Amino acid sequence: MDIKVTKTASPKSKAPEQELGFGRYFTDHLFAMDFGPEKGWHDARIQPYAPFQIDPAAGVFHYGQAMFEGSKAFRGVDGALRLFRPLAHAERMVVNAPRLCMPTPTAEQMVEACRALVRVDADWVPKSEGTALYLRPTLIATEGFLGVRPASTYRYFIIASPVGSYYGGNSLKPVRIWVETVEVRAPRGGLGAAKAGANYAASLHAAVKAKKAGYDQVLWLDSQTHELVEEVGTMNLFVVMNGALVTPPLSDSILAGVTRDSVITLAKEQGLEVQQRALSVKELRAAHAKGQLQEVFGTGTAAVISPVGELSFAGEPMQINGGKPGPVGLKLYETITGIQRGVVKDSHGWLMDV
Ligand SMILES: Cc1ncc(COP(=O)(O)O)c(C=O)c1O
Repeated sequence: MDIKVTKTASPKSKAPEQELGFGRYFTDHLFAMDFGPEKGWHDARIQPYAPFQIDPAAGVFHYGQAMFEGSKAFRGVDGALRLFRPLAHAERMVVNAPRLCMPTPTAEQMVEACRALVRVDADWVPKSEGTALYLRPTLIATEGFLGVRPASTYRYFIIASPVGSYYGGNSLKPVRIWVETVEVRAPRGGLGAAKAGANYAASLHAAVKAKKAGYDQVLWLDSQTHELVEEVGTMNLFVVMNGALVTPPLSDSILAGVTRDSVITLAKEQGLEVQQRALSVKELRAAHAKGQLQEVFGTGTAAVISPVGELSFAGEPMQINGGKPGPVGLKLYETITGIQRGVVKDSHGWLMDV
């Protein structure tokens, strides 16, 4: 892929690493590439970060043809820059875009674009432990028209944001979770397996309700029975019960998390029994009552592991592991972040040099 690079004439100043937070700052450049019926994907470029001019009638604004990804580039303890499982992230977009009738560049082109952008903005990859450069590849319909049908033109672009340590340098902070029994994130047959903007729009209302009630996030149940657990906030859900690690099986209403896959692989290697099976709120409550619900945690690129300290179902709170992070989640967190920083052996080839 031939990528034309135009460097900014006015580089921005950088915030101190301890003040980065998440998604508040953007680097000096972005990658963009366009799709049209005749040319296919064309005009791959890295350009100064700036607003786009897009037709107000563009499909992305009206019919929601929009998808994104989220992965990270790390500065290892040796100073080298590496991406964590970039191909798995790119392939997820390739696999799910047809559900939204959207074309994508190839996974290899997307990875090449991520690497090229990180090389140009290398100075923006923070150094401190727990920090990273978060990459946000995005795919939108750009054709201006009204009438419900797939657009004929698209843009794929990548923006990058230096992000701080999710836990602000402290140990893993357990979250309080509200079990949402009415609203659903993604229905059966819907877009849940795709990282489509529409799923996040569908999730905001319940998340705001949960926050107002004093909770951090929502536990999502399935759309048909409202009994089976699916995801937690914007993370995959794991439970340690009777010594086994249990997670709901992938379906068209669950995002196939890259962290989920990494956790399953590492947990098996660490000798844990991993079960991918349906898990109901009833079963969780029964296990909790018998003292068999040892740990609950979410997994995702942003936090890696997010322990759940409390689950509240219909106003009845269940405290998990005394409201503290448990040993299974902690060990997985240490292993994955260790691989990302280059202090734990990458025996699965998950890191890619920039
Ligand atoms: C709905 C949802 N589930 C799960 C995840 C975790 O996926 P990954 O581990 O690939 O980041 C994410 C986000 O990243 C998400 O938005």
